[in-house]
Amino acid sequence: MRKKVVFGLLIVAVLVSIYPEIRESRFGSCVAYALGGLRDVASERSQRFLGKVSEDTARCRGGEAAVAWRKTPWIDWPQYWSAGGEQSRFSGVVSGFDILSPNTRGINGALLDLEYQRMELIKFNLFDNHGAYEEYFRGLSGTSGRLANTWPQLRLPTEHALFAAAGGNGPQKCSGEMIRFRTLTGICNDILNPLMGSVDQPFARNVEFESTFPEISPDEVVKNRHGDRLGLLKPDPQLISRKLFTRRQLSPDNCNDGEGPAGHSLEVNCDYHKANHINVLAAFWIQFMTHDWFSHLEEGRNQAGTIPLGCAMQRIDNVEQRLTQDQVADFRCRPEDRIDKSLVAHEAPAPSFAVNGKQRLARAPKTTLNTVTAWWDASQIYGYNEISQRRVKRDARDSAKLLLEATSASAAGQPGYLPLLQSSDPQNPQWAGQEAVAFPDNWNIGLSFFHNVFAREHNYFVDAFRRQAAAHPDADSGLRDPAQPTKSIRNKDVTDTELFEITRLVVAAEIAKIHTIEWTTQMLYNEPLHLAMNANWSGLLQEHPLAGAALEEIVQRFAGSADGKKSTAWYSAFAAGPGIFGLGNGKSDVNGGVHHFGSPFNFSEEFINAYRLHPMVPDVIEFRDLRRDPNTVAAKIAVVNTVRGKATDAMRQRGIADWALSLGRQRGGALGLRNHPLFLQNLAMPRIKSSTGKVDVLALDIIRDRERGMPRYNEFRRQYGLKQLTRFDDFIDPRLPKESPRRAEQQELVAQLREIYGQHRCDAAKIITRSQRSDDRGEINDCLGNPDGTMVDNIEDVDSLVGWLAEFVRPHGFAISETQFQVFVLNASRRLFSDRFLTSSFRPEFYTHFGVKWVNENGPEGKRMEKGNPNGHEMEVSPLKQVLLRTIPELKAELDPVINVFDPWARDRGEYYSLQWKPRPGAETDAAFKAK
Ligand code: HEM
Repeated sequence: MRKKVVFGLLIVAVLVSIYPEIRESRFGSCVAYALGGLRDVASERSQRFLGKVSEDTARCRGGEAAVAWRKTPWIDWPQYWSAGGEQSRFSGVVSGFDILSPNTRGINGALLDLEYQRMELIKFNLFDNHGAYEEYFRGLSGTSGRLANTWPQLRLPTEHALFAAAGGNGPQKCSGEMIRFRTLTGICNDILNPLMGSVDQPFARNVEFESTFPEISPDEVVKNRHGDRLGLLKPDPQLISRKLFTRRQLSPDNCNDGEGPAGHSLEVNCDYHKANHINVLAAFWIQFMTHDWFSHLEEGRNQAGTIPLGCAMQRIDNVEQRLTQDQVADFRCRPEDRIDKSLVAHEAPAPSFAVNGKQRLARAPKTTLNTVTAWWDASQIYGYNEISQRRVKRDARDSAKLLLEATSASAAGQPGYLPLLQSSDPQNPQWAGQEAVAFPDNWNIGLSFFHNVFAREHNYFVDAFRRQAAAHPDADSGLRDPAQPTKSIRNKDVTDTELFEITRLVVAAEIAKIHTIEWTTQMLYNEPLHLAMNANWSGLLQEHPLAGAALEEIVQRFAGSADGKKSTAWYSAFAAGPGIFGLGNGKSDVNGGVHHFGSPFNFSEEFINAYRLHPMVPDVIEFRDLRRDPNTVAAKIAVVNTVRGKATDAMRQRGIADWALSLGRQRGGALGLRNHPLFLQNLAMPRIKSSTGKVDVLALDIIRDRERGMPRYNEFRRQYGLKQLTRFDDFIDPRLPKESPRRAEQQELVAQLREIYGQHRCDAAKIITRSQRSDDRGEINDCLGNPDGTMVDNIEDVDSLVGWLAEFVRPHGFAISETQFQVFVLNASRRLFSDRFLTSSFRPEFYTHFGVKWVNENGPEGKRMEKGNPNGHEMEVSPLKQVLLRTIPELKAELDPVINVFDPWARDRGEYYSLQWKPRPGAETDAAFKAK
């Protein structure tokens, strides 16, 4: 029988290769694709997958539309069957075997492509700035670099108070109290690398060091790429902001740069491009997250000394010219704006090492420090150093709790609000009057909302723990003291100090879960990403725990393998089976589940670039009143009137429930060009004593990226394993009909890009990159496929932020671009893989039995399921919905139909990943559905 099957397959293979008509059928393509087997992970950077598949593979997974898409620079999988909305599902006759159906092939193919991308990202995009890179690089060709898991650079220094306790000058290993809970400064998360992820460690890079700081690079290839066209203020950042970022207004007076007409806040109206499936909570959530993960500023400040932000030059007919006063007035930019320079850790020439006669940089030419912990440890709430911790207020009546104060807006019997910063608290003067939290910078109503919610959740957990402890005082809590690991700690013996720290662990893990399976799946709203993100968290084999456990065994063997390929690429691929969260928590080694893939963990500078998501914020919030009529907009409130200290009154007078309703119902801003908040172009910046007193934060976004050496867009894409663009017109969505208004709009923006970044006469003798090859495998030169000596677009000079905002082509349901997504694929996986408390130390010894159950089941009530099958899945009541139901119970009726808290609350989610803007039953009168 087996022989017959093999023989049959051989015949089919021969027929497929002889007769093109069979091969070009879906059947033939699938056979050819299947016989081709799995591709190897690239052995060299320039041979990467690029998200582009063969013609057979494309046809088999997505039909002719997917085949046609191969010509574009954009990744292929979004064109596969079922990877988009309803229209992407195969509607013809489907085989009886689900596994062979086009829809299944499409989804599995997409997941496979995503996994290849991740394996290659792990292989090619880890660049450590602590000084461990040389060893890593040398080991890449063998095995040792990728197998390294302890680094001398991450030892506690002699002056550290815990130096001796960690092992002093001998081998260092954290133990005892140092490993029980998340530490304030983030040390000892990895027991063997005490400093990893702790405060003030250097940001990593995801791109070759040689590709960073293109403005000052001595590298011939980089010079070939950009000529002398780049500088900190070249092209002019404020001009980029005004021409490419400004939201266009139908009635500018009603908006008044985001402030509304003076004294008439009800009339304020600012137009913006709205994302149908993302609400304003999603915008502030991500700001809340970034404050946990990274910061470049110290206590809200940068270096002493200021720099200008442009509004000086513009390119006319390809020549840079000084702006006249009239032009300055026309553009409404401000030449006198100033900002403090970015902090820098190292700027002495970077050390280098020789490989095969060529020098390689051992770190980036300049480095900066992450001034908060890189762990997902809720440090924005609890603190990351001694100074920030002094702002965090504990309840004097119960030290396990955070302090919340009753105010006039607190509902009877409900928790109150965060207390305010006291004059004795460490603070930057511009934070005066704000609520007291560890990370207070760029404060606003949305941050106030999430900080209040999770302070309430903290206290709710403490009360719930105490209730179950009172019911079962002698039961084993699960908690262990590492000094006496075999002695069980009874519920009644858990101290207040321990309970505070357990609660921090639980709250941080809940936040990580919300972000992974709720925020991200809504921002990337399609089936492959729903599956991929849930796989990251709880595995693809949730319904098959035995298979999951078996696979976890295999994954752990890969981790210990002496073969670099198995210990990295295979490890990451197979981890999707059991899931990354909790990986290794069944083993005795509490550190045994972490995996750094040979390179110490910290976020990269590129990750910060990808999180410059300011367009998600509207200028004006449509305020609603829960008790009157949730469908009516009762007031319009300029966001700028809720910024910094102004958030306090807004929150306390109007109340958290109405803010939840308002931010939950309103659509967030779409991430694209000409959609930045106007108020951020004109933000008051009192700490800088400039004559304008203001700063254009959007121009600052561009400047900060340049200060930190972001490669410009096209090389950024190549470095991340994505296909380069060859001209500005590549941004235009090729599927749009010639005469469509959207195409016209995109063409107009492309013309603006050309005006700002310009063109040059190309020289085919100049090689401009080593990180990618052209389609014919040749070296890529300055002409990018155009005839030598012709005028070509300066596509190489486009700032990364501008480039990814200009990606009009997006996978279905993607609020972000594919370029940003690539950054997230790598870093989002790493921040789970590397964190002991989200892998092997997610266990009762640290979290207690009660805490583990709380995280797994989204609270104390046990698993609850939503009605129906949203997008074809049985869905648990989402973790953030459960948090909101506990902390703001007034929202019960409003939240009842909500499946994902980051989807506008009154939107009808419709069928299979619908993006339509339609009211759900009961919200038909909501004015938001009438307005354009
Ligand atoms: C009212 C809302 C907001 C205000 C007033 C604000 C203000 C600012 C300012 C002034 C900076 C520049 C700091 C500097 O480099 O000197 C900044 C940076 C930044 N903002 Fe915002 N922002 C807001 C909302 C958001 C949101 C919703 C996001 C979404 C993720 C975000 C992400 C970032 C990031 C990633 C940076 C760079 C941080 C770093 O360099 O470490 N911001 N913001």
